[in-house]
Amino acid sequence: MSSHKPIRKAVFPVAGLGTRFLPATKAIPKELLPVVDRPLIQYAVDEAREVGIEQMIFVTGRGKTAIVEHFDIAYELEDTMRERGKDLSVLDPTRATPGDIITVRQQVPLGLGHAIWCARAIVGDEPFAILLPDELMVAAKGGGTGCMTQMVDAYREVGGNLVSVLEVPHEEVSSYGVIAPGASRGALTEVTGLVEKPAVADAPSNKIVSGRYILQPDVMRVLETQGKGAGGEIQLTDAMAQMIGRQPFHAVTFAGRRFDCGSKTGFVEATLALALERADMGAEVRAMAERLLRD
Ligand code: UTP
Repeated sequence: MSSHKPIRKAVFPVAGLGTRFLPATKAIPKELLPVVDRPLIQYAVDEAREVGIEQMIFVTGRGKTAIVEHFDIAYELEDTMRERGKDLSVLDPTRATPGDIITVRQQVPLGLGHAIWCARAIVGDEPFAILLPDELMVAAKGGGTGCMTQMVDAYREVGGNLVSVLEVPHEEVSSYGVIAPGASRGALTEVTGLVEKPAVADAPSNKIVSGRYILQPDVMRVLETQGKGAGGEIQLTDAMAQMIGRQPFHAVTFAGRRFDCGSKTGFVEATLALALERADMGAEVRAMAERLLRD
């Protein structure tokens, strides 16, 4: 048994504008764009469920209510499907325990840090997970656990705060939060510093923070007075940097794959990769891709 408080709550910040995906995201939230046949938010919720997280806290904004409706029961749809003898099990992932989907609003998208702070009353005094749904984290080819499961396993051992990281070519670091690494043991690396979108020359490593976090509730107190950072936004990275030295802080290198579905090419890659692996369509998609590459 771990002596660290269990992780029961996950925050999904989904109030961003998704400008990189316009015009698709004008009326449809980015988090509902489907990779094959599941919206991005479904993958993130499934990842949290895999490790037994019960409460899903969505930080939403204007035009984002369809995200919450995705987890409602659609009576008319189900009735009609039943009448027509259709298989209702396709809807199973969308079922939620009543009361376990909670929404809070971020009226103005002032940044990821601000979005997380909007969930402070629901998070309360517990450690909590954060999952950015546009970063699609998929278990390694041939099996393995999800990213949040690997992080919770590490948390049970070391407690404190954790971020998931992956290595990118050094010249790409300027688009991301980057860690300054300390001692390493297996997939765990001590975090001695954090910087958001550094210039290539100033980046302390090529290990970027990749959309999954386990944080102590104290981060909310830091965010309370956090000023604007890179890009004029209230950055979660800046608040996390304040926690280093006060509490344990580690990075977990995810043994699996990550697709940046906030970008168009990342989204296309994810769609192709997952479709190729599907038993019901993989062969057909492979033949199609080969044909397209030939022509
Ligand atoms: P991104 O910067 O990737 O998302 O934020 P974005 O702002 O929606 O997209 P672009 O850059 O305009 O295309 C990472 C995550 O944080 C959420 C986003 O919804 C996304 O899941 N976010 C960001 C908020 O909830 N509120 C914010 O103020 C900013």
